[in-house]
Amino acid sequence: MSIHKQTKAKKVTTHVLQAMKSRGEKIAMLTAYDYSMARILDAGGVDVLLVGDSASNVMAGFETTLPITLDHMIYHAASVVRAVDRALVVVDLPFGSYQGDSKLALKSSIRIMKESGGHAVKLEGGQEIGESIRRILKAGIPVMGHLGLTPQSIYKFGTYTVRAKEEAEAEKLIEDALYLQECGCFSIVLEKIPAELAKKVSEQLVIPTIGIGGGGDCDGQVLVTHDMLGITKDFHPRFLRRYVELFEVIQNATEAYISDVKSGDFPNDQEQY
Ligand code: KIV
Repeated sequence: MSIHKQTKAKKVTTHVLQAMKSRGEKIAMLTAYDYSMARILDAGGVDVLLVGDSASNVMAGFETTLPITLDHMIYHAASVVRAVDRALVVVDLPFGSYQGDSKLALKSSIRIMKESGGHAVKLEGGQEIGESIRRILKAGIPVMGHLGLTPQSIYKFGTYTVRAKEEAEAEKLIEDALYLQECGCFSIVLEKIPAELAKKVSEQLVIPTIGIGGGGDCDGQVLVTHDMLGITKDFHPRFLRRYVELFEVIQNATEAYISDVKSGDFPNDQEQY
């Protein structure tokens, strides 16, 4: 039996992810926001499902991740949790639910755990949100970090371009990664940073790194599912691999259905009572 088959058989926990890093098995993570898609991804054997605040863009059509609320995230996360047999479900704490107030961060995390049944939370940032991370961890809630491009800070950065290309920012990112590990985070997402830097961080850390635009030496990879499936159309970053062009597949099916309805071909004699 392959290593992949063995891993597929049991529920994924934070300890399983740690063991995967230890034996050099890559971690596959995708985003999910609803029951039907989460069922398919879980059946496909994905290790981690991230209920990302990218739901703000993908599901709600907002330009940034800032507008999505804690109530929205809990609704999406509960739908995903109901679908999943095997994957670890990590839920993003949305903008405004944890920054600058560690008691609020804990309250938001407890709501996510209690009301959605999610297995862990993810927060964007390093030492500046350390107090929030430590308070959440003390309550027994697993935390995934997120460094590099952190979309909740888009108005500070001004663009979605690659982060930490300069030495000072790269050094700060390494310090932050070590800090998050020392706090007790079980994993860290590294978004859109140079592959060399992501490799260095992944080698220095004991906990697994999950890259999105961080190159092949991260311990795992994550993509936004709607990008990977070609449902979103006008987004072509270098790091994205599309495995299917579902926009066209669904559009063609829609056109065929409309044509059948208009022509009277649907429903036929077998498709009625
Ligand atoms: O919200 C999200 O989808 C994310 C991933 C891009 C890592 O945070």
